[in-house]
Amino acid sequence: MKKLSKLILPVSIVFAGGLFLQSCTGDPLSPGLEYMPDMYRGPAYEAYGESPFSENGSALKPVAGTVPRFNDETLPYYEPYQYPNTNEGYEAAGLSLTNPYPVSEAILAKGKTVYTNFCIHCHGEKGDGNGILVQKDKFAGVPSYYSEALKLLPEGKMYHTLYFGKNMMGSHASQINYAERWAVVHYVQKLRAEGLGTSIASDTTAKSPIDTTATAAVTKK
Ligand code: HEC
Repeated sequence: MKKLSKLILPVSIVFAGGLFLQSCTGDPLSPGLEYMPDMYRGPAYEAYGESPFSENGSALKPVAGTVPRFNDETLPYYEPYQYPNTNEGYEAAGLSLTNPYPVSEAILAKGKTVYTNFCIHCHGEKGDGNGILVQKDKFAGVPSYYSEALKLLPEGKMYHTLYFGKNMMGSHASQINYAERWAVVHYVQKLRAEGLGTSIASDTTAKSPIDTTATAAVTKK
């Protein structure tokens, strides 16, 4: 017993010294010796890691042709757009493409948010084409919504321009989704009516019905 207790001190010094040296050598990022590695590294396949079940790892690609339909419970996120990016497509959209959402306070509020985030710096707060970039000479040629050229512009053409862009205005298809595009079209019509001294209710180019109840919900088409 006495012999054993005499050994404890030197043995523990050697052991502690070993641990100390071990901690200073090798890769500083290495966790060191892993005792029973299964406890740290589960046998399950890592997301995006290698997996024997599919070529791209454990994350499977969606079936070809899949589209993202909804990003929340009420508004479609994506709708296929059938008008081609040509002059004919632009004219055809002007004749037959109409806003699926009735005008309501809710959708105008949504349109205003989109407008403030994505359009105001070129088109200006009132839609007169005098946004901050134009004022600072960074950009030119932005038309007023109530100019001769645009005062009768149908909503289908507005949507088409938002989708594909037109001349100096780039496409906004990747920044704003389906419902947001139609919401901002309503808001542009509102700004235009105000600029012309009328109201959105008397806009003859607006083909979607007017919802006069202030609280009308923005609902699924
Ligand atoms: C970088 C500046 C810029 C931004 C940002 C911009 N526009 Fe434009 N927009 C223009 C210019 C320039 C034109 C004129 C295009 C032409 O007819 O040559 C235009 C034209 C338009 C027209 C008339 C389209 C037509 O068919 O004649 C509408 C409507 C419009 N913009 C709405 C918007 C909305 C809504 C947004 C935000 C989502 C937006 N724009 C963002 C510069 C911009």
